[in-house]
Amino acid sequence: MRQHVNPLSKNFNEIERIPSLKEMFGDPKLNLHLDIGCAAGEFLFDLALVNTSWNYLGIEIREKLVKTAKLKVREREIKNLYFAFGNANNILNDVQSKFILKNVRSISFNFPDPWFKKRHYKRRVIQPEFIHILSNLLHKGSLIFIKTDVKDLFDYMDCTISSNFNFKTIDKNNFNYFESFNPNKVQTNREKYAIVNQLDIFDKVYIKI
Ligand SMILES: C[S@@+](CC[C@H](N)C(=O)[O-])C[C@H]1O[C@@H](n2cnc3c(N)ncnc32)[C@H](O)[C@@H]1O
Repeated sequence: MRQHVNPLSKNFNEIERIPSLKEMFGDPKLNLHLDIGCAAGEFLFDLALVNTSWNYLGIEIREKLVKTAKLKVREREIKNLYFAFGNANNILNDVQSKFILKNVRSISFNFPDPWFKKRHYKRRVIQPEFIHILSNLLHKGSLIFIKTDVKDLFDYMDCTISSNFNFKTIDKNNFNYFESFNPNKVQTNREKYAIVNQLDIFDKVYIKI
């Protein structure tokens, strides 16, 4: 499978309709967490099984992965997990999906594609315009989690989010993970790989003020 998909390709201009919260989840009133670039969704399957007081929504640009994940959700009859296919930037910028950002309590960007070449930076999922959209729509107190093993990408994401005055860093040592979307600090696939290979992991949490 190809590692990187160009999110700016016109293939992703058309957006699939995101169903209402009521259609996506058994109980639409639960806390909602959004994972952007969830790949095959293993991380979200692990979370959804254990933390039944949260709803989890994963957005992934590789269609095959989303199709398989959706099938698994249906087969296992999981009511607090939903997957959407497409470029997260396009989906969340679309008028019809604004309700997602208005309802999420937290968003994670776990090990996003790094796009190392400078001329490809515009393909990175975190962009100033995208952070601007998040800052306009997220409720006060909503959280953004970023995590990567690429220092340059971490600095770029940190600078982009910190440049928006509506977000403030949370001191990780004072952060209560038990109340978050991931109380048991479940690891993503890339995170497991980074730990086994002793790569440095850089992460930060921001709060909408
Ligand atoms: C390096 S993988 C990390 C997967 C997973 N989060 C983890 O930590 O193991 C990055 C994922 O983000 C997806 N992705 C990249 N750009 C995206 C975008 N604009 N919208 C949605 N998904 C995207 C890629 O297809 C890939 O599955």
